[in-house]
Amino acid sequence: MHGRSRHEDKKSVETMITQKTRITVIGGGVGGYPAAIRAARMGAEVVLIEKEAIGGTCLNWGCIPTKALLQSAGILRMVRQSGVFGIKCREAEADFDAVMGRKNAVVAQLTKGVQSLLSAKKIEVIRGTATLLDSKTVIIEETGKRISSDYILIAAGSKSMGIPIAGIDGADVMNSTQFLDMKSLPKSVAVIGGGVIGVEFGQFLNAMGTKVTIMELTPNIIPGSDRQIASLLEKVLASSGIEVVTDARVKRIDHKETGNTVVYSVNDEEKTVFAEKILLTVGRKPDLSLLSDGRLGVKCEKGRILVDEYMQTSLPGIYAAGDVTGGSMLAHVATAEGECAVKNMLGERIRMDYRAVPACIYTSPEVASVGLTEEKARESGEIRIGTFPLRANGKALILNETDGMVKIISDQKYGEILGVHIIGPHATDMIAEAVLGIHLEATVKELADAIHPHPTLSEAMMEAAQTLTGGPIHMP
Ligand code: NAI
Repeated sequence: MHGRSRHEDKKSVETMITQKTRITVIGGGVGGYPAAIRAARMGAEVVLIEKEAIGGTCLNWGCIPTKALLQSAGILRMVRQSGVFGIKCREAEADFDAVMGRKNAVVAQLTKGVQSLLSAKKIEVIRGTATLLDSKTVIIEETGKRISSDYILIAAGSKSMGIPIAGIDGADVMNSTQFLDMKSLPKSVAVIGGGVIGVEFGQFLNAMGTKVTIMELTPNIIPGSDRQIASLLEKVLASSGIEVVTDARVKRIDHKETGNTVVYSVNDEEKTVFAEKILLTVGRKPDLSLLSDGRLGVKCEKGRILVDEYMQTSLPGIYAAGDVTGGSMLAHVATAEGECAVKNMLGERIRMDYRAVPACIYTSPEVASVGLTEEKARESGEIRIGTFPLRANGKALILNETDGMVKIISDQKYGEILGVHIIGPHATDMIAEAVLGIHLEATVKELADAIHPHPTLSEAMMEAAQTLTGGPIHMP
């Protein structure tokens, strides 16, 4: 026993127990709460500070409520086409209050679930606004309470961006959060910004019977996504009655009692659109308010917190994850970054890996992608492209959803999968296979040779790979 008494041994065990690593997580969104749970699972003593609602934007005003609304829109569409399946339904109509109520119930159940997960892991949740005092201390603005810890994770999220034009502060102009609290369905909505939120909300409104115009600044909706896929989506939106205007430069909004007129130009030609409400979806920006006056010296660039590959900021001991760090601002990326950060705090040495980040759009048809777009892949070298249309897929026909395709981009030499883009039903679930493929550096041959279940949409993935390895069965 090296001369130590039993009493001393007991004491050192107690010291070990009381010397748990203390971690303060700022922000209870999908960047913060999974990180808090991971850290607690790994034995840390965790405090989580949240100024608004546990679950953050994703659970309360983002991913979850919007997909719940889109599900209602999908049911409406399904009932309306039920005759195709031999089912007779009376005329279907949406009850907007009930649709919003169901969305609220889904959100409430999930946020309650997260709270019980946090309490099961004995994570102390403090409701309040955190500001960084120094690299080990956080102060709660409302109460003045100070919390000291060994490490701090900033996962404070993002907020909607605005645009500096006349009339943007009008009462009928909503951001996505305000949209989700609407009490009645507007007759017409002009959506400024044809990115992910713009097209998802636009399609929901269109399904509910609202007249929708989407104005997108760039030549394509969903800039940055694969062109071919984005233009297929644009066609679907247009054919459902949504007016999509690209290259639209919005100049001002004139508000009148009878409604609002958005004035914009396309190739210098001035145009107008009249709408009861205006939805502004021109992107989000990191919420850096907790850094107060910046005296602490956490390095920021272009409005985002700079982190290294271990998710540590310029101040040792302070880490950041999720939308505050800019980047792709996706929920699943935030979660991965948060977990990476706390693992590094607790002694692991893990680099954040962005090679296989899926991006999903929950429109109908859904759009999902991972890896390089065709445009980016062409810049980086010789490539091959394999596509397979869903009209040749049995399950898509069964679902009566044959609009869409799977597109696989591989490198010319080894056949390594560089990018996969899907437009079609359940694309957002199907993409997981491609995520794993890119994560494992799989080749198209491996994907083509893997036995896929029949009849499923996933066979379209296999057959797209087969177009690069000897040809698919179900295309001439
Ligand atoms: P976004 O960056 O996806 O799209 C903004 C769009 O607005 C772009 O197409 C941009 O060109 C356009 N735009 C910018 N200024 C404009 C102007 N003055 N006039 C007209 N168009 C203009 O941002 P969005 O849709 O607001 O979403 C914010 C964030 O939330 C994104 O980072 C997105 O990844 C995330 N998100 C993810 C979802 C998903 O994964 N399914 C769903 C919704 C949001």
